[in-house]
Amino acid sequence: MEKKISVIFGDGIGPEVTKQAIKVLDAIARVYNHRFRYEYLSMGAEAIAKTGDPLPEATIEACLASDATLVGAVGHPRFDNNPLTTVRPEQGLLRLRKAMGLYANIRPVKSYTSLAHLSALKPAQLEGVDIMIIRELTGGIYFGQKTLSDDGNRATDECIYNREEIERVAHLAFQYAKQRRGKLTMIDKANVLETSRLWRKTVQEIATQYREVMVDYMFVDNAATKLILQPRQFDVVLIENMFGDILSAEASVFGGSIGMLPSAAIGEGHALFEPIHGAYPQAAGKDIANPLGAILSAAMLLDHFNLKDEAGKVRLAVEWTIHNGFVTKDIDPVNFYFTTTIGDMIADLIVDKSPSELHEDNIQLRKSTII
Ligand code: IPM
Ligand code: MG
Repeated sequence: MEKKISVIFGDGIGPEVTKQAIKVLDAIARVYNHRFRYEYLSMGAEAIAKTGDPLPEATIEACLASDATLVGAVGHPRFDNNPLTTVRPEQGLLRLRKAMGLYANIRPVKSYTSLAHLSALKPAQLEGVDIMIIRELTGGIYFGQKTLSDDGNRATDECIYNREEIERVAHLAFQYAKQRRGKLTMIDKANVLETSRLWRKTVQEIATQYREVMVDYMFVDNAATKLILQPRQFDVVLIENMFGDILSAEASVFGGSIGMLPSAAIGEGHALFEPIHGAYPQAAGKDIANPLGAILSAAMLLDHFNLKDEAGKVRLAVEWTIHNGFVTKDIDPVNFYFTTTIGDMIADLIVDKSPSELHEDNIQLRKSTII
């Protein structure tokens, strides 16, 4: 199979984690005889520095013309701490999601028992957590009109949803629920927000077409606590854009670190894959960032190409490293391995190098000695 993949390294740790994902894709290409052609494009703070625009036209065109897009991360503190800036790195990603019509963001969250002892949560609470968050991605408060009064003392962000926007992502969530444990939880704030009431009404109507799926409805504040206290009750979660951003970041504690979580943004015809973590500028260039979110996003990209065996092989290799304690600093601040070491290890496992050949010397050398 031959595929053209647009790659956007972005900012902070974006380049280093994305390079590991590409290393893994190249290993897959070697083993299964595929050809992946990459085109490297600009977005975010690095694009602003080069062109003044967080999403140059060339990036949009290339992403629309490729079979899939892989993104690292965008963002830079010099914009975060300056509320007066009107051009921001995040605008690049938001505009790209919109331009590619990526209305659904699929964020799988699961716990790893071998990491339970490193978690802030109790091991019993972590056992068997397996949640599929389906976040609406191109509507709501993120994309409504924004205003700031001339005197700078009044600001608004409009939250708009229409029935079609809700229906298309809801159908996708029901499809997932059908193929999984048959449960869908719709999370909203229908006791306060009109948009949430439209969500609830629309989802209730759609639910009649999926009798085999059990649906329950939960207010987002309640869901924020239930997610931590009783995570196993969640199977598929359907959620609007901003609440989905927040709760998926909260749910990342189950994996051990936000650095582990991948996502797929899909729509009609286009797809983009990105870890859910941010640019983490403090770690940039230090080879300490967790590459698993990016690598597992590459596995989702393989699934999207219908390369199921290949995606499975990546996930198995990832699980092997986790299970054997080869983790980055965010997971284990004492005994940690470097970003590139983990990437090499996973690529080696894919090409069927036995674990004993995994540059054992390098691993020992690079292992932290702060015990
Ligand atoms: C995410 C991120 C983005 C979002 C930012 C970078 C715009 O937090 O993908 O979760 O809020 O959607
Ligand atoms: Mg987020």
